[in-house]
Amino acid sequence: MNIVAIYGSPRRGGNSDVMLDVFLSPVQPTDTIIRIIPSEMKFSQCKGCRACEKTGVCVIDDEIKTVSNHLLQADRVIISAPIFFYGFPSALKALIDRSQVLWSRRYLLKEELKPKKGFLLAVGATQGKKLFEGVILTSRFFFDGFNCEYQGEVVFRGFDKKAEIKNCQACLEEIKKAAQKFFYSENTII
Ligand SMILES: Cc1cc2nc3c(=O)[nH]c(=O)nc-3n(C[C@H](O)[C@H](O)[C@H](O)COP(=O)(O)O)c2cc1C
Repeated sequence: MNIVAIYGSPRRGGNSDVMLDVFLSPVQPTDTIIRIIPSEMKFSQCKGCRACEKTGVCVIDDEIKTVSNHLLQADRVIISAPIFFYGFPSALKALIDRSQVLWSRRYLLKEELKPKKGFLLAVGATQGKKLFEGVILTSRFFFDGFNCEYQGEVVFRGFDKKAEIKNCQACLEEIKKAAQKFFYSENTII
């Protein structure tokens, strides 16, 4: 199984990094994990030029081309991210915008893309009722663009200090349980 794990925070070793590492802990050595860290990559923003709608190819030649290939070949894709102003941090959002080329290939150029499954982990500092609504929608539509079925999310409110989620044993257990089901159960919708 090919697993693509996207670390969405610009803070290395923070809460969402811890969550993703725990989520990946049940992965068997026979499976492959590709880790993507948008905040450490150099790539341009989507220009909105629409060339990909006709050609299925992005006019910008940078690292995102490799990311797109990893996403197309994946069996499972996971995003883990903090909430920044009720959305994703900007580098992750820029990577998502660049996946418009995949959406064009699937929906405009009618290319059959391999089916995959996707999952979201997210964390925010406050208790806002609608805290995760934006990132859940963005994840659903990002995943759908490359035929990746949204399977669910594990989200936590009230964590702000670096890696303090490590002190919440119940949170870590919930993440591991969801991961086991996401990776190794037939019926994965969580
Ligand atoms: C630029 C910025 C914007 C943020 N916006 C929000 C927000 O809108 N709502 C919220 O609950 N927390 C917000 N936070 C807090 C983070 O979501 C929180 O600290 C999270 O645990 C950080 O995860 P990380 O350690 O993986 O980076 C923000 C933090 C930063 C740095």
